[in-house]
Amino acid sequence: TTTYDIELIPGDGIGPEVVDAALPLIRAVADDHGLAFDITRRDWGTEYYLEQGEMMPEDGVSRLADSDAIFLGAVGHPTVPDHVTLHGLLLPIRKGLDQYICKRPNVLFEGIETPLQGYDAGDIDFVVYRENTEGEYADIGGREHRGFNHETAVQSALFTREGTERIVRAAFEAATERDGHLTSVTKSNAQAHSMVFWDDIVEEVSEDYPSVTVERLLVDAASMDLIRRPHEFDIIVASNLFGDILTDIGAQITGSMGLAPSGNIHPGDENPSMFEPVHGSAPDIVGDGVANPLATVLSWSMLLEDVGEKTAATALWDAVTNQLADGAAPRTPDLGGDATTEAVVDDLRSRL
Ligand code: NAD
Ligand code: IPM
Ligand code: MN
Repeated sequence: TTTYDIELIPGDGIGPEVVDAALPLIRAVADDHGLAFDITRRDWGTEYYLEQGEMMPEDGVSRLADSDAIFLGAVGHPTVPDHVTLHGLLLPIRKGLDQYICKRPNVLFEGIETPLQGYDAGDIDFVVYRENTEGEYADIGGREHRGFNHETAVQSALFTREGTERIVRAAFEAATERDGHLTSVTKSNAQAHSMVFWDDIVEEVSEDYPSVTVERLLVDAASMDLIRRPHEFDIIVASNLFGDILTDIGAQITGSMGLAPSGNIHPGDENPSMFEPVHGSAPDIVGDGVANPLATVLSWSMLLEDVGEKTAATALWDAVTNQLADGAAPRTPDLGGDATTEAVVDDLRSRL
């Protein structure tokens, strides 16, 4: 057996619900394929913060660094401001481990209803390559003159040549392995520094990929077109903030936030990558036992693929596809059913 060293951070809200529900299934897939996971569970998050005054230990990121992969549930809790929790746990990991590609597939599965009319399974199938370490999330800025009428807040976005080029190049590479169509989403009509720089880099990199057709869209028009003509997208590359927003649209047009998986990828062996559902801690349904575990299961499939276990990854992905296509299978309320998280996972086990 090959053993993988996995760091597990269930986090807040429905994070632990979906992570723990999925674990027996993940172990079962591992067994089936002669693999094992050596899992280190980290109780970091908002409860930890309320006791310790920090979301994770100071050397938290480096404790994760030697693993083969990281799995995270969700971060964020109504009792502590989001900027404290997210800048204390999730964002420093993405940045600290240089996971510069945030890869977010959006697939309309058979058996899933989209709010858009006239789309069948497979008609929507695109992947967002979101820049994941800089841009609008660079955390540069400040507030001056608190409480006075002339109070100001500055929030700067940082776009480096290296940071922009590597995400753009990764997206072009991905396009060559798919349908060869890349959409670069910017706001270069208004943001004449960073986004024109981004456009220039897309232009430069495109010369190395003559087989890829390149389309440029402004983010407002792209948001519209994801609703109007989602079938025409293949690979989308966007900055940190724009990629964040577009992937919530992507999740909803392919059925539910509860179905959308993601990977924060550091290519190569230097650092581990981190996998997590796109959704957050969903305080509105926490404790009800009805959080959809499928985004988590699909994210585990992405993890398995990333560590090289393609067969196991496919088994897990196919079990989900198979369940969704079965009208009699249990579904959580976000997909129009009344099943629990556990029931969905139990059913998946029978489909492996
Ligand atoms: P959210 O994704 O938590 O929830 C948005 C909506 O989607 C809610 O109605 C929720 O019930 C529903 N939903 C989300 N996941 C679901 C699932 N698995 N099954 C069924 N329904 C699901 O976004 P939000 O409400 O904007 O944020 C809540 C908290 O989560 C905030 O603190 C926010 O900062 C944080 N957040 C964290 C992450 C992360 O950890 N990666 C991502 C997004 C938001
Ligand atoms: C996501 C989330 C995070 C992000 C938040 C919680 C900081 O929305 O993973 O999509 O913006 O990256
Ligand atoms: Mn988001």
